[in-house]
Amino acid sequence: MKGRHLIEPGNFTIDELDKLFSLAETIMKNPDSYSEVCRGKVLATLFFEPSTRTRLSFEAAMLRLGGSTLGFAEPGASSTSKGESLADTIRTVASYVDIIAMRNPKEGAALLASQYSDVPVINAGDGGHHHPTQTLTDLLTIRTIKKKMGGLTIGLCGDLKFGRTVHSLAKAMSRYPGNRFALISPPELEIPDYIISRVFKPAGVSFSKMLRLEDVIGDLDILYMTRVQKERFFNEQDYIRLKDSYILDTEKMRLAKKDLCVLHPLPRVNEISPEVDSDPRATYFQQVKFGMYARMALITQLLGCDGGKK
Ligand code: CP
Repeated sequence: MKGRHLIEPGNFTIDELDKLFSLAETIMKNPDSYSEVCRGKVLATLFFEPSTRTRLSFEAAMLRLGGSTLGFAEPGASSTSKGESLADTIRTVASYVDIIAMRNPKEGAALLASQYSDVPVINAGDGGHHHPTQTLTDLLTIRTIKKKMGGLTIGLCGDLKFGRTVHSLAKAMSRYPGNRFALISPPELEIPDYIISRVFKPAGVSFSKMLRLEDVIGDLDILYMTRVQKERFFNEQDYIRLKDSYILDTEKMRLAKKDLCVLHPLPRVNEISPEVDSDPRATYFQQVKFGMYARMALITQLLGCDGGKK
């Protein structure tokens, strides 16, 4: 994987993903062995949109591998605010660092950045399009908790239109045999047609659309809750009308399987009631930690920094 970019989940084969997750598990078990493998390497985090988990987990990952980080957390702190193009920003930063993680509100921005960079570019979210390192996080969590990647009934609930984590996860989990999707959303926030026509249908993936979480929660192995993406609405009234479409609470959890795995990319707003946090099936804070280990494994592979201390 050395020198490659990660723009969307399909950039890695299933085999490469398996190796990445095995490495993440090894790092998780023995992090001290990997504390120097990226010594002398520098990661840039270029965040043109807000973030807590993605930016800080990338930075924590690089620091825990012995490397260093630099970057900005909002575009106003860079020469983008003076009108510099993304291409010029990337050409500049790529001459200072060994690897770049970038979040940008424009769909396709990460692909464009990769075309101007001599060093690996990792897409840390491009508008409503993709968020592949969240998907690595989600897949590592599913692999660890469910001990399998196929034959699962997966509920995607909430803002399936603008939620880029949903688009990346749907694409990634469609590659494993026997997975089925329940797409739970209001009509205004349905999953984009291209996911149906270019992902589910060609892969022969079974899916159904529904309005009510209560009608399907009892069938699910995984429930992936999502926030309604306020920042992508054109009209505040629509956001206010739709924002509380789904609230997972203890009453709904009573209808679910004993081994349901509840995931959420976070941040959450109202869509999971805090009373659910103490339910052993609530996995979203474990998921946060898996995200750091997934990114540690990814950085080592894209930089070719293999081999922890024995
Ligand atoms: N899951 C996720 O992308 O969180 P942040 O927006 O806080 O990075």
